[in-house]
Amino acid sequence: MRVVESLEELWSGRVKLKGPVGLVPTMGYLHEGHLSLVKRARQDCESVVVSIYVNPSQFGPQEDLNKYPRDIKRDLGLLKDENVDMVWVPTNEVIYPGDYQTWVTVEEVTRPLEGAMRPGHFRGVATVVAKLFNAIQPHKAYFGQKDAQQSVVIRQMVRDLDYPIEIIVCPTLREPDGLAMSSRNVYLSPDERKSAAVLSRALFRARSAYEAGEQDAGHLRQLVVDTLASEPVVKVQYVSCSDPVTLHELEGDVRHALLSLAVTIGKTRLIDNVIL
Ligand code: PAJ
Repeated sequence: MRVVESLEELWSGRVKLKGPVGLVPTMGYLHEGHLSLVKRARQDCESVVVSIYVNPSQFGPQEDLNKYPRDIKRDLGLLKDENVDMVWVPTNEVIYPGDYQTWVTVEEVTRPLEGAMRPGHFRGVATVVAKLFNAIQPHKAYFGQKDAQQSVVIRQMVRDLDYPIEIIVCPTLREPDGLAMSSRNVYLSPDERKSAAVLSRALFRARSAYEAGEQDAGHLRQLVVDTLASEPVVKVQYVSCSDPVTLHELEGDVRHALLSLAVTIGKTRLIDNVIL
């Protein structure tokens, strides 16, 4: 497994890789969710590249950039065990040199949900992912359903900017109590961690209701809100039932929908979703 930092090292490693090349972009502090993307890439592709970069431009000024968990040694060990061919670990100077001034702004689909709560977040995500795509030139790139809007934004960018890259969205991996795996789960105290199981419980309860015939978007949202209310430490930022492609909020009967939520528990912000 080749670990590279500079663009020059990346390029000289990249030309030696046999295609198809699969890319898994990450911010490190890897868990089974990340590794499920790597495993899927390993199945589909001749070569697998993973990037590890905590991208400052996707964090707001009040967000957790400085305390975002990092453990590069452990990450590299895990990736080696998955037979990854190359890991790119760029520095800030490599991605955003001093005179950096070009940004990728995806419009409509970045406005609601996470975009509304985290101004500038998707500008940072789209820009860094565009740069990863340009530098690595993968044939396929793997993203998690956990970050549903991120996948929608990346698909939109790929269509709009004509990237010849197939985007593959993989299912959300969960802890035994249902909590979606996330690098940010380490922020939770033991009590908060227990309360956090209500997120998936709320979504699964609404999904069961939907499967039993409840189709009203408002009722489905309310079921989620009511279930979340059973854990008073959980503060709701949004509960949404939206079109999975346009992310427009739905009213009345729904056929196909993205049921998503964002909450804070203490100082920790968590998101989760299910597809109906
Ligand atoms: P990060 O949060 O490290 O996540 C990297 C990838 O792993 C994302 O595609 C994310 O959706 C996926 N992922 C996270 N938790 C998962 C889970 N429980 N199950 C399945 N997949 C999961 O998302 C980012 O980094 C960044 O925004 C990035 C795309 C790297 C751009 O900086």
